[in-house]
Amino acid sequence: MTNLKKISIDGIEVEVDGAMTIIQAAEVAGVEIPRFCYHERLTIAGNCRMCLVEVQGGPPKPAASCAMQVRDLRPGPNGEAPVVKTRSPMVKKAREGVMEFLLINHPLDCPICDQGGECDLQDQAMAYGVDFSRYREPKRASEDLNLGPLVDTHMTR
Ligand code: FES
Repeated sequence: MTNLKKISIDGIEVEVDGAMTIIQAAEVAGVEIPRFCYHERLTIAGNCRMCLVEVQGGPPKPAASCAMQVRDLRPGPNGEAPVVKTRSPMVKKAREGVMEFLLINHPLDCPICDQGGECDLQDQAMAYGVDFSRYREPKRASEDLNLGPLVDTHMTR
């Protein structure tokens, strides 16, 4: 018995293994879904929430695409393939909220950071974030630790 399921992602219909997650099915369809904690060789953590998508006919809230399997999606009323949207206003708003939240306590020292412009967080903030923050409180800071003369600490890392 075949385990293939049809799914429509941003209007692109693909047939994938039902055990695949939506984020994997999106890769098959050529649709990019941003992510931080997902990696195909690690167990699913599902805690960064950057991969949120809208599942039509599902609960009226964004769903983590890395943690939801294709076989768990409900088909349409006439047996149509389940519909997933990755560019709807709901998804855009959710991604902006996640980016704003992730950056609350992130240090603003990009020019001296070791990543030096190769930062995935920076790329995703540019692509999916907003250019303002509602956070007005002081950013969290750590005091410098004294770990002896051989260890130099930079507590923003
Ligand atoms: S990639 Fe982190 S919650 Fe899905």
